[in-house]
Amino acid sequence: MPGILIKNGTVVNDDAKFVADVLIQDGIIVDVRPNISAQDYPNVRVLDATDRLVIPGGIDPHTHLQLPFMGDVSCDDFYSGTRAALAGGTTMIIDFVIGDKSSSLIDSWKKWRSWADPKVCCDYGLSVAVTAWSPEIAEQMKALTGPEYGVNAFKFFLAYKGSFMIDDSSFLEALQHCSKIGALARVHAENGSAIDNKQKELLEQGVTGPEGHTQSRPEELEGEATNRACVLAEQANCPLYVVHVMTKPAAEAIERHLEKGNVVFGEPIAAGLALDGSGYYDEDWDKAAGLVMSPPLSREEDTPQALMDRLAKGLLHLTGTDNCTFTCAQKRRGKTDFTKIPNGVNGLEDRMSVVWEKGVHAKKIDEQRFVAITSTMAAKIFGCYPRKGRIAPGSDADIVIWNPNCSRVISVDTHHQAVDYNIFEGMTVHGTPETTICGGKVVYEKGTLNVEGGSGRYVPFAPFNDFVYAPLASRGNLFAPKKVERLQ
Ligand code: URP
Ligand code: ZN
Ligand code: ZN
Repeated sequence: MPGILIKNGTVVNDDAKFVADVLIQDGIIVDVRPNISAQDYPNVRVLDATDRLVIPGGIDPHTHLQLPFMGDVSCDDFYSGTRAALAGGTTMIIDFVIGDKSSSLIDSWKKWRSWADPKVCCDYGLSVAVTAWSPEIAEQMKALTGPEYGVNAFKFFLAYKGSFMIDDSSFLEALQHCSKIGALARVHAENGSAIDNKQKELLEQGVTGPEGHTQSRPEELEGEATNRACVLAEQANCPLYVVHVMTKPAAEAIERHLEKGNVVFGEPIAAGLALDGSGYYDEDWDKAAGLVMSPPLSREEDTPQALMDRLAKGLLHLTGTDNCTFTCAQKRRGKTDFTKIPNGVNGLEDRMSVVWEKGVHAKKIDEQRFVAITSTMAAKIFGCYPRKGRIAPGSDADIVIWNPNCSRVISVDTHHQAVDYNIFEGMTVHGTPETTICGGKVVYEKGTLNVEGGSGRYVPFAPFNDFVYAPLASRGNLFAPKKVERLQ
């Protein structure tokens, strides 16, 4: 593979910003310093990055590509999804294995690998969902943390009663187990039983459209479940990662637990940072149904800004997308019953630009924080830093040349995802990925993709990752049992 020399750009890491050239050879960054002479490297391709930022490629820690869900399969697969990711400046994803209950976790992991490996255009990792509990499942979890499988995070759903939802007692035991095997627990925090009741009531009252989706999921139910997950994780001395934080009550619960010194990470997503939930009342059924995801977009207009404010202050930690796309035709499965509308929205392609727009362009965060919340923090949490998430010698050459002075309008007409609408339609964003380099190869430039399905690699993660586990080591003593020896 010919090398690349990026000249005259401003390199941005989460902790530094400086003008330098970046030399790439064999897929790896080999030098970062001013004035690397192109003449010394006659066979490398030179890319001029004057007035541009040179940032680590985005890492989307939360995707569901070709997920079998709610009687259908999400339409962006590992090819269209990762291809679109690269066009948007994301060079790595972490997807979720969510197998059916009759399969072992290991078989499900194998199935996901067999789906992803021939199609992925960028590197990827996997977290595995645990939707039931038994000694066999505990053993499979332990096995998955080994180097052969490379899984260091498990996901638990407190929603989707009757399918993915796990009960509290099993959840607590699983958290205790995660703590023993050095895994991070990731949680979808909603109160599945309360939602189930509300859905039935609304349908009985004749509310069958997408507006029923938000009405069946009051914000406090996300706040309650987030708090519950944090409390149970604290009891289990287990690090917790709350996926798709959509509301202020959920973010407030995380803040309370951070103040107590608990290890908890909060992940808002592109959709929740850009949109509120007023669209569920749109008279156009397709538009309203297109926004159906769980937890839903917030009922309060100022929530997107409040979530970005918390990312700015470090009270929320990284951004994902929960990309789980269904076409308009697929969404219409729920035409007469909102509970049957497949849940999920797009974001994988547009996350970087949306976060830039709502964060840096809105003057809430600087470029370094942008890099932290779109890339570096994910690499640290899952333990692939500094291989990923950093521009430095020795790191993978997953790099974006970012133009902070170029705007574009997001539209289904120009996006690369397979889904036939875009929830950000018409939004102007003022920062754009101009060139994406993935594994040392230019895969996107001047609006053109040059990708190859199957070129991405699986990135295994190791358990007991220091970034999440070191702060817990001393806290274990807090929960050591105390016995009083009495004379009689
Ligand atoms: O609506 C959503 N979020 N769909 C994907 C599955 C999940 O809950 O993450
Ligand atoms: Zn979820
Ligand atoms: Zn999800």
